[in-house]
Amino acid sequence: MTQSPGQGQALDNLLTESRTFPPSDEFAAQANAQPALYEEAKADREAFWAKQAERLHWDTKWTQVLDWSDAPFAKWFVGGKLNVAYNCVDRHVESGHGDQVAIHWEGEPGDSRAITYGELQREVSKAANALTSLGIGAEDRVAIYMPMIPEAIFAMLACARVGAMHSVVFGGFSAEALRTRIEDSACRLVITTDGQYRRGTPAPLKPAVDEAVAGAPSVEKVIVVKRTDTEVAWMDKDVWWHELVDSQSDQHTPEAFDAEHPLFILYTSGTTGKPKGILHTSGGYLTQASYTQHHVFDLKPDTDVYWCTADIGWVTGHSYIVYGPLSNRVTQVVYEGTPNTPHEGRHWEIVQKYGVSIYYTAPTLIRTFMKWGAEIPAKFDLSSLRVLGSVGEPINPEAWIWYRENVGGGKAPIVDTWWQTETGAIMISPLPGVVSTKPGSAQRPLPGIGAKVVNDEGVEVPHGGGGYLVLDEPWPSMLRGIWGDEERYRETYWSRFAEQGFYFAGDGAKYDDDGDIWLLGRVDDVMNVSGHRISTTEVESALVSHPTVAEAAVVGASDATTGQGIVAFVILRGGAGSDAGGADAIKRLRDHVAKEIGPIAKPRQIMVVPELPKTRSGKIMRRLLRDVAENRAVGDVTTLADSSVMDLISAGLQSGK
Ligand code: WT7
Repeated sequence: MTQSPGQGQALDNLLTESRTFPPSDEFAAQANAQPALYEEAKADREAFWAKQAERLHWDTKWTQVLDWSDAPFAKWFVGGKLNVAYNCVDRHVESGHGDQVAIHWEGEPGDSRAITYGELQREVSKAANALTSLGIGAEDRVAIYMPMIPEAIFAMLACARVGAMHSVVFGGFSAEALRTRIEDSACRLVITTDGQYRRGTPAPLKPAVDEAVAGAPSVEKVIVVKRTDTEVAWMDKDVWWHELVDSQSDQHTPEAFDAEHPLFILYTSGTTGKPKGILHTSGGYLTQASYTQHHVFDLKPDTDVYWCTADIGWVTGHSYIVYGPLSNRVTQVVYEGTPNTPHEGRHWEIVQKYGVSIYYTAPTLIRTFMKWGAEIPAKFDLSSLRVLGSVGEPINPEAWIWYRENVGGGKAPIVDTWWQTETGAIMISPLPGVVSTKPGSAQRPLPGIGAKVVNDEGVEVPHGGGGYLVLDEPWPSMLRGIWGDEERYRETYWSRFAEQGFYFAGDGAKYDDDGDIWLLGRVDDVMNVSGHRISTTEVESALVSHPTVAEAAVVGASDATTGQGIVAFVILRGGAGSDAGGADAIKRLRDHVAKEIGPIAKPRQIMVVPELPKTRSGKIMRRLLRDVAENRAVGDVTTLADSSVMDLISAGLQSGK
C-alpha cells in the first residue's frame, strides 16, 4: 500500500487551519437538525434508523431493522416492501403537491422546461409502461448513457418503478468503457440520446453506443432520445424514445418490492484495471439518501430551491439529484451543460434566475471559479443561497473560505460531505445549524453512522493522530456487494481490518485536537481527478494498448485546480520510430487514452523515460515517480532493484527528451 501523494503537504496546510464558524442563532433556530439527534442515534442506533425509514411509504412494514448475521452482506428493513419510484413521485402527487415544480431543467443552449410532480408521475409512468412493453422487468439490467436531460431521470425512475436495475454510465466515457460495463452486468437494454450539447456545440453520443452494442450481445434494444437532432445511423435494435414512450399510457400502478430488491449498479474504479459494479438495494438506500438530504442540506420542501451540479453518471447524481431530493419533495434545478457556456457566470445566472437556496458542488469547480475571479459571481444576486455543500475530494481551506465569502455571502454554512459510491449516501459531514464548521474538515460522522481513524493495527488513534478511515458500524445505504464478484467485495473492503470487522474506505484521515476528522486523500492506487475516481492501472493498460508503448506507469500528481492530475511515464517500444517521443506522438497517446477510457482520463502530462523504477520483486515504485511529477527531490531509493534508474530518468527529462 502506498501513501497518498502530497499527504504530508496536505497535513501541513490543515494543521495551520484553526478558524471555526458557528451557525447564526437565526439559522440554528430554524434548522431541521438539532443537537439531540446525535444523542438519540447513540442511545439506540437501530431505533434511530427505523425512525428515519418512517420518512418513506412502505407497503409492508419490516420485521427486523438490521440483519448482520451474514456480514459483510447486510439486510436492512427485513421483510419490508416499498416502491422507490412511488416514494419519489406518486406520494407527493397524492398528498396534493402535483402542481409543485419538481425539476427546473435548464438546457445548455438556453432552452428550459419546468416539470411538476404531476408531470413527472405521468412521464415516469409512460417510461415504465415502455419498459414493460419491451419485456423489461424485475432484476433486468438497463444501461443509461445520457446527458443531463429530464429523460435520464425519467428513465432511472422508470427502472426503479418496474424493479429493473439501472446501470448509469457517464456520458463522457468511451464506447469501450460503455461496452465493458454493459457486458459485466449483461444489460438487456440501453437508453441513450442522438447527441449531447457540450460547450455550445452538439456532439454525437449514439455512435459510441453503436460501437459498444456491436460487441455486447446481451443488448436487445436501444432507446434513443432525440436531443440534438443530429443525423444518426439507425440499427436494428434502435427505437426512438418519442415513438415508443410517448405512445404509452400515462397511468401505471407501481408494484412493491422487497427492501433488499436491487435498485442499481454503478461502476467505479478500483485498484485494478477492471471497474467494480457497486450494487445498491432499495429500502436502506432510500432511507439514508432521504435522511441525509433532509438533515445535511436543511431542506425545506415548501420553500427551498435546491441545485446539485453533479452528473447522474456519478453517485452524487444518483443520491442527490434523483433519490434524495425527490423522496423529499424538493424543487430542484437540473442543468445540462458546462459552467462556462456561454459565459463564466452561467451558474450564478441560474442561481439568480431560480432563486436557488441550496447549492452542492465539488472543490475542483470552486477552485475553477476562483481562477475565473470573484468579480464574476459578484455580478449576480446570490442572496437566495443559504446552504452550500462540497463533495468529491478534500476542500482546501482557501477554496472553502472563498466559497463562503463569494458565493455564500459570508454567512451560508458550508457542509463538506464525505462519502463514496460504496457508501451510497453522505456519512461524514457537519450538520448545518448544529456544528460550528471548520474550513477543510468534514468533521464528524452523521447521527447513526460510525466512523473512526485507526492505525495499521486497527486501533483508534488519539486526537491529533493520523491513519486510515474506517466505518465501524453497518449503515442502511451501504453497498451490498460488487456485481458478480463476492471475493473482490470481501477482499477490497473487509480484509484489511477483518479482525475488527471494519469497512476499509481507502482514505487517509486524521483527528484534530477537537476530535474532528480531516480527510487526506486516497491511500491506494486510485487517483482523484476533479472528484472523479480513476485507477492508475486503468490508465496504464490504456497506454500499453497503444502500439508504440512498451511499458507505462501512472501517478496522480497534485494539481491546483483538479486536485490531482494524471502524469504518465512511458517506455517506448524498440521499433516505435524516431518521432515516437515527439509532441505529436505524445498528443496521439493522450488521445488514445481518451478513446480507451474517456476524456476525463487523459493524462495531463506524458514523459518518455528509458526505465521505470522497480523494486526487486518488480513492483513499480510510484512514490518516486510522484516525486518527479511534483518536482520534488526524489526520496529513498534503497529498495530499488537498480538504484541508478532514477538518475537516468531525471537526466533524460532534464535534457528535454
Ligand atoms: C472518494 C469517493 C461521494 C461522491 C463523489 C465521489 C473522496 C469524496 C470527499 C470529501 C475528502 C472526499 C474520497 C472517497 N471524497 N468526498 N468531502 N472530502 N474526500 O465518489 O467516486 O466514489 O469517490 O472521493 O477519497 O474515498 P467516489
